[in-house]
Amino acid sequence: PIHQREYLINGEMRHWSGPVSEVYSPICIPAEGGTLQRVLVGSFPVTTDKEALEALESAVNAYDNGRGEWPTMSIEGRVRCMETFIGKMLEKRQLVINLMMWEIGKNLADSTKEFDRTVKYIYDTIDALKNIDRASSRFRIEEGIIGQIRRSPLGVVLAMGPFNYPLNETYTTLIPSILMGNTILFKTPKHGSLLHYPLLEAFRTSFPKGVVNSLYGRGANVIPPVMKSGKINVLTLIGSSRVADELQRFHPKLNRLRSVMSLDAKNAAIILPDADLDVAVKECLLGSLSFNGQRCTAIKIIWVHRSVADEFLRRFGPEVSKLKPGMPWDVGAQITPLPEPSKPDYLAECIREAQAGGASVINEGGGQVAGSLFKPAVVYPVLEGMKLYREEQFGPVVPVIPFDSIEEPINYIITADYGQQVSVFGTDTDQIAELIDPLVNQVSRVNINAQCQRGPDTFPFTGRKDSAEGTLSVEDALRSFSIRTVVATKDTVSNKE
Ligand code: G3H
Repeated sequence: PIHQREYLINGEMRHWSGPVSEVYSPICIPAEGGTLQRVLVGSFPVTTDKEALEALESAVNAYDNGRGEWPTMSIEGRVRCMETFIGKMLEKRQLVINLMMWEIGKNLADSTKEFDRTVKYIYDTIDALKNIDRASSRFRIEEGIIGQIRRSPLGVVLAMGPFNYPLNETYTTLIPSILMGNTILFKTPKHGSLLHYPLLEAFRTSFPKGVVNSLYGRGANVIPPVMKSGKINVLTLIGSSRVADELQRFHPKLNRLRSVMSLDAKNAAIILPDADLDVAVKECLLGSLSFNGQRCTAIKIIWVHRSVADEFLRRFGPEVSKLKPGMPWDVGAQITPLPEPSKPDYLAECIREAQAGGASVINEGGGQVAGSLFKPAVVYPVLEGMKLYREEQFGPVVPVIPFDSIEEPINYIITADYGQQVSVFGTDTDQIAELIDPLVNQVSRVNINAQCQRGPDTFPFTGRKDSAEGTLSVEDALRSFSIRTVVATKDTVSNKE
């Protein structure tokens, strides 16, 4: 086990001798009485409001009202520091991948992909920054004024990442914030905390002191004092819409706070009567069950036209049952243990409730539980009022609902609280074209004959309604963590003429 006793504040790795939080793996081993017990992966400091406020002061001092070394450093200088960081990050590649498998149960292929995707994301962001810088150096001459449009930092950023992409999604907010010249406090997710430990030293030695500071401990203790200080300029969270609302309310001047957030989603797939069912089955399988359905972009409900519902389910159910369960390191494991301890019970309850309302689990073995391993279940027909109809299950249960008129799924999407993505499957290009406009006014991405997903990472990533605030990705994230400023000079040369 890794017992972390250090945290990063003001360029120092501080030692912690107070209480710690133990991290249990979703991976279980047999215990007494024939039960299964989660394996201990390690522990991390449960720091208090005192350390949180010290971390805040460190970030505030490093920013120094925009006069600090980091916000005034040239873009070339910041890029050099980030490149140093990448080199040090790469040295920890295997350790971080192993910790990801143990802490959150992500399989080897996806844990490796997450690490490598993150490195590519950093390089892409560096490239985008150089482009923004070049573009912003362009002078504009209008109405006798020469304007140089720049991008400048916003101040102190509080960043919080999720358990399902503990490295990648945390870094999709951290990296652009840092590169734009802001100073940072970041809180690691509870599940997926230890994998950040090996990287703290890389931050410490790559950037000036105080630019990156870590927060550990219970969110309920460490976040409110930091937010109440009024010294946070940007709050960035990849997490739940409820937590986002709670955190924002702590800020004394909410209208002065910029929020950049990716939150809850209940993405729907719509399968039209003329859809190519092979494509729909393949994409819905990937879309709903990659990483056990624990993706904000997962397809979380499938609307299928009644005329093809039986055929779709006849093909989809067996494909779901074929997904290979296993430990994260088992070659080809597609269904792995769930990190959230309460999730198997919640999913089982969703299924029980749907069954009481007349639905069935249509695939063999669906819903069986062993420790924290949950065999994916396809539930049909889901009806309005059931938990699976509106709640974001964030796990391996796929609700399917039949429709007669396209108005039914469209109304479902229009009346939803969330508006992240939708997938439409069909071959009638005219009909699909007609659906695009009504749908892009409800969600932030419409996928045609393809699963919902975030990538490529250079595409804007956001959501409507309660699903997001601001936009992430590469270039858009750089914009989200900066402000456009202008240096305006009288055009005396032209004015003379
Ligand atoms: O959990 C939300 C992630 O942003 C999903 O990303 O579509 O690449 O799996 P992904």
